[in-house]
Amino acid sequence: MDPNASFKTSLSAWILGIFCFAVGLAGGRTFATSRVGIELFSDPTGTLEVFSSSGALDSRNPFFHVLGTNGRTCESCHVASDAYTITPPHIQQRFAASNGADPLFRPVDGSNCPDSPGVNSNPPDPAAYSLLLNKGLIRVGMAIPANAQFTVSVVSDPYGCAQTTDSTGRVRLSVYRRPLPSTNLRFLSAVMFDGRETLKPLNDPATYRANLEFDLADQARDAIMTHEQGVTPPTQDLLKQIVDFEIATYSAQQADNSAGPLVSQGAKGGPVYLSSVPYYPGINDSLGGNPTGAEFNPNTFTLFNVWQNLTSHTPSAAARASVARGQAIFDTAPLLIQDVKGLNDALGVATINGTCSTCHDAINSGGHSLPVPLDIGIASVATGSSGPLNEALGELHPPLVPVYDLTCSTNLGGPLNFTVRTTDPGRALVTGRCADIGKVKGPVLRGLAGHAPYFQNGAADTLEQVVDFYNDRFQMGLTANEKADLVNFLRSL
Ligand code: HEC
Ligand code: HEC
Repeated sequence: MDPNASFKTSLSAWILGIFCFAVGLAGGRTFATSRVGIELFSDPTGTLEVFSSSGALDSRNPFFHVLGTNGRTCESCHVASDAYTITPPHIQQRFAASNGADPLFRPVDGSNCPDSPGVNSNPPDPAAYSLLLNKGLIRVGMAIPANAQFTVSVVSDPYGCAQTTDSTGRVRLSVYRRPLPSTNLRFLSAVMFDGRETLKPLNDPATYRANLEFDLADQARDAIMTHEQGVTPPTQDLLKQIVDFEIATYSAQQADNSAGPLVSQGAKGGPVYLSSVPYYPGINDSLGGNPTGAEFNPNTFTLFNVWQNLTSHTPSAAARASVARGQAIFDTAPLLIQDVKGLNDALGVATINGTCSTCHDAINSGGHSLPVPLDIGIASVATGSSGPLNEALGELHPPLVPVYDLTCSTNLGGPLNFTVRTTDPGRALVTGRCADIGKVKGPVLRGLAGHAPYFQNGAADTLEQVVDFYNDRFQMGLTANEKADLVNFLRSL
């Protein structure tokens, strides 16, 4: 790839941007404000705002360049209007508008399998891309670690590539995951759902920034070499430009159709305030890991405190009061946390009396402030018997993906002999440890309204489904009104 060619392409895109600034709007992107670092996009329940703390959202950044061989850029899967992931309605629009030629639709990981029938026909068969089109899922081919404490057998293989052997002889499993938002990255304690790009740990305030930049540079290089099918590894300088762009970019809901501007009457919604939210590894840690020694405060979110005691009775005041009640539910409504691997087993406590903020403890960003991979059961396969997890899974709309049995064996160094059925072994495919089966990170909870579906596998199509899942999973006993309040809060993030 001639680097000048991509520079020229993006330069002309930039010039086009200035031109569109002169004439107004282009494809929903407001170029008028992009040059001062703000972009606004409508989403299903209001307006999403993207803000760059560097002062400009520069579309000349290599994030927007073709850096590999298949025509993709980072933006192919991380689009500003979708809170820097991709969403099924826009994916379907891109397929229709390009007749399947948009580089997102590449067999390497965009189709259900690289050799699905019709994957390369002209136009490609949408059935070959059904997981991407319907759930925004990308295929991640994870090698089984050489030291794995388990063996894997395929229980169901709907597309024919559940388990493959690569050119170096390694056995790979196909798991299907949502692109994590490449925004609000200053609040990460792990990179990727399974933390596989957290090469240098994000657990110490002294090394946080340097390690985050190192990890994200490595992540970007791997994205270029895999998703973009690169042949020439990118330079450190290019990776640094991408990482600087990513870390400076914040995304959050800015206005809600019912509650109005999320900054009104002193509320602190939107990405500009988010860019000033303090963060360091361990901040407000719920397990006592705050390096300052400060105790955990369950009031993780405080953005809408000022809306708690509104006296006016206008419709928007009622909607704002609901958002504030939802915030209080998130921070304080009791949850019975049971059977969460990484938490109940690690603490040796069968039931933890917690709140949403027990796991989403990072102040006003909502991730977990230390790397604690957890299995809340999203990738589990419902068994049809009763129990909170099965009921909770019944609230979701999971994708049709391969199912695996992982058999742990003491002969392989495992702790015990047992079998786990799952659609995604999560962190176990990084460490090889039985204890890590199904564990993933809890993501940052901002810009949610703009990036459905939710969870690693898109199993929740809506925030209502997310709340129904948790209400069953952790036996919250929420009323219909309380659920609505919690949803209104989540969509205001
Ligand atoms: C074909 C789609 C695709 C392309 C192209 C792509 N990504 Fe991603 N990205 C993903 C997926 C899927 C994940 C989550 C995978 C996982 O967790 O296993 C992800 C995760 C990430 C994350 C991790 C965020 C977090 O919270 O841990 C970052 C950062 C990121 N991508 C940046 C980039 C950059 C930079 C580029 C371009 C060099 C890029 N991506 C290109 C699909 C893509
Ligand atoms: C026991 C820990 C735990 C508790 C308690 C918890 N979460 Fe989560 N949350 C997670 C983990 C882990 C994930 C990622 C799961 C996955 O994708 O497989 C997650 C994911 C989410 C997501 C999806 C975000 C996205 O972008 O896809 C939302 C929304 C969410 N949680 C909201 C809540 C709310 C609301 C509550 C309280 C009702 C709550 N969580 C309680 C651990 C927890």
